[in-house]
Amino acid sequence: MSGPTADLLAEALAAVRDAEGEDALDAVRVRYLGRRGRVTERLRAVSQADPAERPQLGAELNDVRRAIEAALDDALSRARASSREESRASEAIDVTLPGRRPFRGALHPIGRMMDEVAEIFLGLGFEVREGPEVETEYHNFDALNTPPDHPARQGQDTFYIRPGVLLRTHTSPVQIRTMESEDPPIRIIAPGRVYRRDALDATHSAVFHQVEGLYVDRGVTMGDLKGTLTAFVKRFFGSKHRLRFRPSYFPFVEPGAEVDMSCMLCDGKGCRVCKGSGWIEILGAGMVHPRVLKILEKRGLDPSEYTGFAFGMGLERPFMIRYGVDDIRHFFENDLRFLANLSG
Ligand code: DAH
Repeated sequence: MSGPTADLLAEALAAVRDAEGEDALDAVRVRYLGRRGRVTERLRAVSQADPAERPQLGAELNDVRRAIEAALDDALSRARASSREESRASEAIDVTLPGRRPFRGALHPIGRMMDEVAEIFLGLGFEVREGPEVETEYHNFDALNTPPDHPARQGQDTFYIRPGVLLRTHTSPVQIRTMESEDPPIRIIAPGRVYRRDALDATHSAVFHQVEGLYVDRGVTMGDLKGTLTAFVKRFFGSKHRLRFRPSYFPFVEPGAEVDMSCMLCDGKGCRVCKGSGWIEILGAGMVHPRVLKILEKRGLDPSEYTGFAFGMGLERPFMIRYGVDDIRHFFENDLRFLANLSG
């Protein structure tokens, strides 16, 4: 192979070697083998060469063309393979990585506690009733024998919507609504939200939850009240717990009692939470006041034939003691880090 042809081949092979990627290789092909490429033009010029040299020159140039083609094909298939490899690597999935868990919703801890309470009373023969949160003053106070001058009725303790209509301050009005619409025997609990104009702090919230209970029939006694509440507390808090009834006053019961439970933290020995007494107040209760039972007259019944017991329990406080929650505001701020910790 003569000097210029050998140089052309060497130059073209170097260009193939230096070209990176398919586009660069195409450009090299055009530069040497295209219609106006260097090899093509030399081939075209063969016809003008000395006739004695033509056959060899032609053969050499054809060899050069084939050698460049072979080098280009080879380089091209390597370039394609490596670009496939690159995209495979960038799209690869590491199947050994731990998966991302989808977020799982759960019931609010207070809702679950209401369900748990309801479950126990259902087992004791009670049914669940609900009443409105926007309530009449009549159902919330009058029909529950609360005198017109009772401090709870004041605007500074109760949220009034308008005169005679308020946000219920307790779940007790569900007693009245049930006796208005059902005949005894009545055995119901009424869980729900209640509202009071309390300044917000670690133990007071303007909205909280209660469960009301009512049992009205012929011959219901204080013994039934004690038996029912004792059964509930042992199921809900644990069988070792004891109850203590202290005489107290609520307008809608007579006699009325506040009920304490042996402290679930120190087991009655006395600790910071029970302030050394060994007891924690958990609910108010009593025998339904004859003036409250009078509502049965609306159904054509004789109230004097019936007696009943009622009780009302707040949910947040026992929950806080049981789970060591130090601030009632946690329940209402909806911080999932808190809520998720307490949902089962
Ligand atoms: N309603 C009372 C309160 O919110 C709790 C209560 C006390 C309910 C005695 C009752 C009861 O049914 O008999 O503090």
